[in-house]
Amino acid sequence: MVTPTVAIVGSNMMDLITYYRDRMPKTGETIFGEDFEIGFGGKGANQGVAVSRLGGKVIMVTAVGDDLFGPLVKNNFLENGISSKFIKTVPGKTSGVAPIFVDEKGRNSIFIIPGANYSLFPEDVIQAEEELQKASFLLLQLEIPLETVYYAIDMAQKLNLKVILNPAPAQELEWNKIQSVFLLAPNESELESLTGIPADSFTHIQEGASFLLEKGIKNVLVTLGEKGSALFTPQESKEFAAYSVNSIDTTGAGDAFLGALSFFLAEGKDMDEAIDLSSAYAALSTTRRGTQKSFASREEFENWLKSYSSGT
Ligand code: RIB
Repeated sequence: MVTPTVAIVGSNMMDLITYYRDRMPKTGETIFGEDFEIGFGGKGANQGVAVSRLGGKVIMVTAVGDDLFGPLVKNNFLENGISSKFIKTVPGKTSGVAPIFVDEKGRNSIFIIPGANYSLFPEDVIQAEEELQKASFLLLQLEIPLETVYYAIDMAQKLNLKVILNPAPAQELEWNKIQSVFLLAPNESELESLTGIPADSFTHIQEGASFLLEKGIKNVLVTLGEKGSALFTPQESKEFAAYSVNSIDTTGAGDAFLGALSFFLAEGKDMDEAIDLSSAYAALSTTRRGTQKSFASREEFENWLKSYSSGT
């Protein structure tokens, strides 16, 4: 059987995660946090690691700084079975970092400081062209320059790769440059920013999705956290339930979902089954602390799914 292969042109970050109770400090105030973890993150890297843990091959095009984090990030890719051939080291830049704050309900607030990620340019995509042809899906996010995202979308069209675009962090997009994507996958707040329509009810979410479909996008999948997800196409809209778990840290759950989705689609699953399996994979990640470190291997995932389904 051919190994499902997913390409990613995207970010990596070092996640600096603070866990706190009650509240964040006010300006000028110092209060005690509860715990701290440092780990590997970045939406592009996270999605790649999810694909790899599930058994897929990942072609990763990304950039690190020439600081102490750069070699650690490269090594983390290697440990996750991802080649460092297209990981550029940018002289004079820091690697991307993400200070993250997680409350007692496992909800997160994230700053990103992209550093070297903002030096990932179209020429880096061109260098990887031959390798990119081996993939069936290309996963993109918005933590790298938009010109690189648009360039990668054009190249994907030329190479016949299906693009899944995760518009995170949300920013203004040129609709004519993203029309060829196979699937646009915002969460509620990204949908709101992209469309200006509040995502506070299913009717409004549907309106937001229609706005995107009218811009020429073929499939819109809105992720709704513990409320599941909803798929909108010009023909239909469909809701998917979430898996009910005891979440302690939701950081990276959206990335676990999209990495898994691209993997299962590349493996040949149909959209409904791929969404359902990806929801399960993302739910499992929220039961563990950390970002990539909370992503299960295929074997762990299958065992968990069996016990979830049997109610044990
Ligand atoms: O989606 C979660 C990710 O967003 C974190 O890993 C952080 O690095 C930011 O990129």
